[in-house]
Amino acid sequence: MGTGKDIKTYMSDVSAMTEMRLRELLPSENSYPEVIHEAMAYSVFAGGKRFRPVLCMAACEAVCGNSAAALDAACALECIHTYSLVHDDLPGMDNDDYRRGKLTNHKVFGEGMAILAGDALLTYAFEILANMADEKNSLQIVQIIQEAAKASGEAGMIGGQVVDILSEQKAPDLALLEYIHSHKTGALIAASVRIGAILGGADAKQLEALTVYAQQLGLAFQITDDILDVIGDAEKIGKPVGSDEKNQKATYPLLFGLEESKQMAKDAVDASIKALELFGDNADMLRALALYLLSREQ
Ligand code: IPE
Ligand code: IPE
Ligand code: MG
Ligand code: MG
Ligand code: MG
Repeated sequence: MGTGKDIKTYMSDVSAMTEMRLRELLPSENSYPEVIHEAMAYSVFAGGKRFRPVLCMAACEAVCGNSAAALDAACALECIHTYSLVHDDLPGMDNDDYRRGKLTNHKVFGEGMAILAGDALLTYAFEILANMADEKNSLQIVQIIQEAAKASGEAGMIGGQVVDILSEQKAPDLALLEYIHSHKTGALIAASVRIGAILGGADAKQLEALTVYAQQLGLAFQITDDILDVIGDAEKIGKPVGSDEKNQKATYPLLFGLEESKQMAKDAVDASIKALELFGDNADMLRALALYLLSREQ
């Protein structure tokens, strides 16, 4: 699917495919109790780059797999990611009013319903993954369920979000920042790459190299997120600028300043591309995705 396409076309093609499949997979907004299904759909279909689905599909293709087999997993990853955004915006967390260019979930549905919509999206993701199993692939599906669970849980994203909260109003150091970024954002990004690769039939050596790629990519992704929170355009990023300063968050620009942070994002992107040396042209989309991070405006 990826061969010969430019990165923008590839991203918009995967976004469209993911969106179409999510509409089939998610429960109907007309089913009772309607409000929870509306709240789930509200945030899932609010837009978003679908970066994790794109990575999942591109990683599958990098090991010569058929990415169609990874589409449902890509959708499940987007559900987990969307849940994390809904909860991240809650008053008890970052207390933000806009996300993906729309009012945040709790602003529309109320706090209780937003918590439940997040819970429902997280749970539903695992139902989607489990439903991928058939008589031939069940071991592989158990493996990707483990990957998704570990990346989302206290050893992954939740651990990062916990330390993110604990570090508010404190002077961060590099080790702390690396922990926060690699867990709150890097873990699900790494899982997206690994799950795509596993479904594509990656061997141990390929999986190891792709993990290094994804870890560096995840770091670059969150450093650029921190930078956009300072110099981004709220219209383009679809969420408020200055949220980190408001909450006195531990960020790269706070510790290193903007210029050094940009250099650190570039170094992480270079390291991620270097990790792909053993792959040929099939990994070109992964390389392009890493480079895209350095110029992203949303
Ligand atoms: C924002 O993620 C939250 C982080 C983990 C940094 P994205 O920048 O991928 O947000 P969407 O999915 O495009 O809205
Ligand atoms: C969020 O980090 C990470 C997760 C949602 C897990 P941020 O709090 O920086 O994300 P944004 O900037 O609100 O999207
Ligand atoms: Mg946050
Ligand atoms: Mg936030
Ligand atoms: Mg941010």
